[in-house]
Parts: sequence; structure tokens; C-alpha cells
Amino acid sequence: MEALALERKAEQNRELRERLMQLKKERNAIILAHYYQRDEIQEVADFRGDSFLLAQKAASTDADVIVFCGVHFMGESAKILAPHKTVLVPDERAGCPMADMVNPIGLRELKAKHPNAKVVTYINSSADVKAETDICCTSANAVNVVNSVDADEVIWCPDKNLGHYVQQFTDKKMIIWEGYCNTHDMLTIKDVEEMRAKYPNAEFVVHPECRPEVVEMADFVGSTTGILKHCRESSHQEFIVGTEDGTGYQLRLDSPNKSFHFASKFLVCPNMKVNNLKKVVKALETMQPQIYVPQDVADKARLSLERMLLVK
Ligand code: 13P
Ligand code: SF4
Repeated sequence: MEALALERKAEQNRELRERLMQLKKERNAIILAHYYQRDEIQEVADFRGDSFLLAQKAASTDADVIVFCGVHFMGESAKILAPHKTVLVPDERAGCPMADMVNPIGLRELKAKHPNAKVVTYINSSADVKAETDICCTSANAVNVVNSVDADEVIWCPDKNLGHYVQQFTDKKMIIWEGYCNTHDMLTIKDVEEMRAKYPNAEFVVHPECRPEVVEMADFVGSTTGILKHCRESSHQEFIVGTEDGTGYQLRLDSPNKSFHFASKFLVCPNMKVNNLKKVVKALETMQPQIYVPQDVADKARLSLERMLLVK
């Protein structure tokens, strides 16, 4: 962008931030932002986090309005956990293709085939699917959740890559759904080999939503928060990062003197990026788009989320 355009954009963002502060007070609102959001949103967030931390925050906030800067299933989980609050997602087109890879009918059919199995569902799923679930998990607690379940057999959905990773840390038999994250699944062995040749001193850190053969190459495997913690605490100065590029905002904030190279230019979730600062302001102005979950679905789905929040 040329200098004048950059200046104009900075001025626009300053005005938007001022308007946002005013609206937040008027509405008693909190801005929650996933680490994959655009920098301009993470900058104004009251709280940044991964799926787990944001679900916890939504369940415990005193605010009347939650502006959930993330994708639709995250807003739904917030609404389920805090049913009396207004939950806004700045752009209602912010979906998650992986969450759409499982539906309640298919899941019920699988449950009928495995009547003794408990269903563990990744939080990246719709409220309808959560309503068919015994317990939810996120990438931060997936192993602990699976091991906490009172059954020898687990139906795992929808992420096959995370499921494959978890299977290595449990004796339970996992029946794994065939879903995946379009963004993380793009990363290939070749991408990592090329990056390692370019940055031979860098540690390779990866999210378990990536393909098993890519995860196998990693020096460290962890959820978004796990990756952030590892990079903050590691004595290494340089990292090849195998997760969504929005994470760069928090990585650079935590360790301004370290270098972070994203492992592929495709590690950008287009769904996360449909939200922007202008839409956050508009959402608080118009109080739209709001998240609604039918009460019967929410009541069933809530159990699966609350059970997850209790797992240590
Ligand atoms: P976490 O926030 O659990 O790391 O999950 C990553 C993700 O893909 C969210 O959509
Ligand atoms: Fe869904 Fe993957 Fe985007 Fe997360 S990063 S919202 S799992 S498509």
C-alpha cells in the first residue's frame, strides 16, 4: 500500500477504535477474539484466546453482550454457555468447513452402530452435533478429555488429523470421523522440508489439525495456546510455525526479538478473516448479527460443553 493509503487506513482505524470504546461502554460489551483473527481485531480485544480459553471466558463474563470475533461455532458455544447474554459474530458468513463435515443424522447412525461408545466431539462443530455428544473437547484438552471418558470405545468427530494424534496417547479404541480443517490440512511434508532448508536453525512447531505425516516431523506439537507457550519459553530464537497465520500477532507480542516463519502461505483461514474492525463496530451499533440456538438443542449441547470445562 502506498504511504497516503496507509495513513488513511490508520486514521480510519483510529476513528473506528474510538467509536468502539464508546459503544462497548454503552452496551456493556466484551470483545473476545480468537488468535486467528486479523491483527486489527486482536488489537482491540478485551481477551484473546484459543477455542478453550474463549469458551471459558464466555461462560464467566459479567458483560451483557459478547462480541465473538471468531467463527460461527465459537459464537454458538458462547451462546450455549451464556444463554441470557447477547452474542454477536461480526460477520455471519464466518463458518468453519470442518464443523460442516459432520451432521447429527450421520452421527446418530454411527452411534447406532457402536452403542457402547461415548461420543467425543471437537468444539469445531455445530450446536446440533454437540447435542448428540457426550463431551466436547478442544485441541488444548483433547487427550485429557478422551482419557476421562467412562468407556473403552470413543466415537471421535469431526477432525481425523487431531483424532489420529490423540489416538497415540490413549488405549481407548477411537472410531474416527473423516473431517479435517481445510487450512491446516494444506500443509505438506514438502512445505516443511523447504522451510527447514531455508531456516536450518529454526524449531518446527505444529498444530495437531495438520496431517499426521507433517505432525510427525515437528519438534513440538500443541494447540494454539500450547504453541504460544512453547515459543515464549523456548531458548530457540527462530521458529517455523505450522498453524494459522493470525497466531503471529500474539507470537510477536510475546517474543519481539524472536523470528517466526509461517510454514506455508496457505496457512490462512479465509473464514476467520471475513471479520474486520469495521464489522465489529457495526455489530455493536446494530446489535446484529446475533447468534440464536433453539433452547432444546442448547440445553442438550450445554451438557457436553460443561462436562468439558470440568476436565482437568
Ligand atoms: P484451537 O483454538 O483449539 O487451537 O483450534 C484451532 C482452530 O482451528 C480453531 O478454529
Ligand atoms: Fe475451521 Fe480450520 Fe478455520 Fe479453524 S482454521 S475455523 S478449523 S477452517
